[in-house]
Amino acid sequence: MLVGASILDVDYLEMEKKIRDVEKSGADWLHLDVMDGNFVPNISFGVKLITDIKQRTNLFLDCHLMVQNPTHIVQELIKANVDQITLHIESDGDILHLLRTIKSHGINAGIALNPETEINQIAACLPLVDLVLQMTVVPGKGGQSFIEKTMAKTNYLADYKRRNKLNYIIQVDGGINHQTVLLCKENGVDSVVAGSFLFHSPAIKERVNMLKG
Ligand code: DX5
Ligand code: ZN
Repeated sequence: MLVGASILDVDYLEMEKKIRDVEKSGADWLHLDVMDGNFVPNISFGVKLITDIKQRTNLFLDCHLMVQNPTHIVQELIKANVDQITLHIESDGDILHLLRTIKSHGINAGIALNPETEINQIAACLPLVDLVLQMTVVPGKGGQSFIEKTMAKTNYLADYKRRNKLNYIIQVDGGINHQTVLLCKENGVDSVVAGSFLFHSPAIKERVNMLKG
């Protein structure tokens, strides 16, 4: 199980220390949640902070864009040379075109869908993406409860991947802890993102190990 650490809810004035904690924890990815106050009610951080983080760490930067208009931000994140950019199918713009642009720069491209969004909405993306992010909470904030019925879709995505010989990673985000990760493992998930479970604990490394299993 690949583990992404989401720094959405950390004290932003302690960002560098939190990133060093993630480096030492054994987490595979640093998950960066960009929120615009429009696609979701809250605003988190943008390209400037991500660019600064890129200068200070070798962690794999997994960027999750919860924004209404991703086009400009995608161009800026490509310049920042992040490792992975995941777009929501519910966002505006030509999402397929943006995914292809991301890939043409040698950056991993992911497609995300909300708990209530049907898989057929992302069907055209599946042959080209490196990752599918099934949200396991309604996006917008940390600390929410895992929505179990989303597991039907991760299961389907795993089956579809096998049948069509595709390679995307199946990621989930929201409400992940030592219990919900077990459901994820049973339902085809390859990668979990965790925020509060990791950071509301003095021992991040132990918690990462619990998720890796
Ligand atoms: C939610 C964000 C998540 C969030 C997860 O919209 O995309 O990455 O940080 O937080 P937890 O693990 O607390 O649900
Ligand atoms: Zn996220």
